[in-house]
Amino acid sequence: EKGGYDYFMLKEIVEQPRAVADTLLGRLSVDGQLTLDEMRLTPAELRSVEKIVIIACGTSYHAGLIAKYAIEHWCRIPCEVEVASEFRYRDPILDQQTLVIAISQSGESMDTLMAVRYAREQRARVLAICNVNGSTIPRESDGVLYTHAGPEVGVAATKTFMTQLIACYLIGLYLAQVRGLKFGDEITAVIAQLATMPEQVEKVLSTVEPVRELARSLSDVDTVLFLGRHVGYPVAMEGALKLKELAYMHAEAFAAGELKHGPIALIEDGLPVVVVVPSPKGRSVLHDKIVSNIQEVRARGARTIVIAEEGDESVIPYSDVLIEIPAVPTLLQPVVSTIPMQVFACELALAKGNDVDQPRNLAKSVTVE
Ligand code: F6R
Repeated sequence: EKGGYDYFMLKEIVEQPRAVADTLLGRLSVDGQLTLDEMRLTPAELRSVEKIVIIACGTSYHAGLIAKYAIEHWCRIPCEVEVASEFRYRDPILDQQTLVIAISQSGESMDTLMAVRYAREQRARVLAICNVNGSTIPRESDGVLYTHAGPEVGVAATKTFMTQLIACYLIGLYLAQVRGLKFGDEITAVIAQLATMPEQVEKVLSTVEPVRELARSLSDVDTVLFLGRHVGYPVAMEGALKLKELAYMHAEAFAAGELKHGPIALIEDGLPVVVVVPSPKGRSVLHDKIVSNIQEVRARGARTIVIAEEGDESVIPYSDVLIEIPAVPTLLQPVVSTIPMQVFACELALAKGNDVDQPRNLAKSVTVE
C-alpha cells in the first residue's frame, strides 16, 4: 500500500504531479476558459462579492495566505486570511456580500467547522476547499471545490497542500473571469501556465536529491530559520511548520523585510537559514532586496540554503547551498518552491529516526476545538 516506499509521506510527495493534474482535470479547457459550475455558487453570486475572508488551520492556512496575494492581484477584491481558531472570537464583520473560503483537507477540523457555522449564522456565503468527499465542512457550506489529491495517510499535509494551492488559483482566476477581467492578458497567460504545473512539479521532484543530502548533514542542528517575501513568505512558514512537526526542531519563518527589525539578532555562526528567492524577472525590486538579506545573514555567519529560480546567477556568490526551481509566474512559485521544503523536513526527520507518518503528539484530523 505504500507503493514500495518505507513511509506514506515519501509516496505522497512523489504523487504530487498526479494530484495537481487531477485537481486541474475538467476545470481548465484548452481555450483558457474555466469550468467550476460544481461549486454551486452562481456567477451572479460571485459578482456580488465585496470581501473575501479565508479561514483555515495549519498547512491549509498557509495555502490561504498564498491565495490572498493571488486573489487580490487578479480580482481586486479585499481578502483577509485568519487562523480558524481565532476567527469567531473577535466579532468579525461579515454580511451577505462576504465570501468566506474555508480550506480544510479533512473537512473535519473542529476549529474550521465552528468558524464556518459562525460565518453562515452571520449570513456570509461559505465556499469550502476540501479533499474528502461528503465530509462535514463541505456539507455545511454553500458550495465546495474538491481537491483531487486522493487519500493522504501521512499526518503531514503534502500533496493536499499542493492541490489546495491549485484550487485557490482556480477560484481566483474564475472570480476574475466572471467579474470581467481587469488583467485579461495576464489572466490568460497564468491559466496557460497553470496547465503546465504537473510537469513543473515533476521537474522539481527529479532534482531534489541534493536536498536529501543536505538534510542528512544537518540532523544535529537544533534551529533552522526560514525567510521569504511576498508569496515566498507563507512558503517559508510552511517549511518551518513541516520541520517542527516532523523533525521536532525549533524552526521559525520571517518575512525577510522584518529581519532588521529584530530577528537578525538571532543569526550566529553556522545557523542554517533557508531563503526563498522571488523570480528575478518582473518583481526585481523584491528579488534584489532579498539578495541583500542573504548577504546580511551570511556576513554574520549564517549557513545559507537558497531556493532560487534556475539560471538566477545573482545568488550564487552568497549561497552555501543552492536549490534551483523552474521559472514560473511569481504567484505560482509556491507550487514549485514548497517541494524542497517538504523533502528537507521529511529527510531530516528520517535522519533523526522519527516516524514521519505518525509524528509524536499529532493526529491527522483535529476534531476538537
Ligand atoms: C500540517 C498539518 C496540519 C493541518 C491542519 C488543518 O502538516 O497537516 O497543520 O494542515 O490540522 O487540517 P485540515 O486541512 O484537515 O483542516
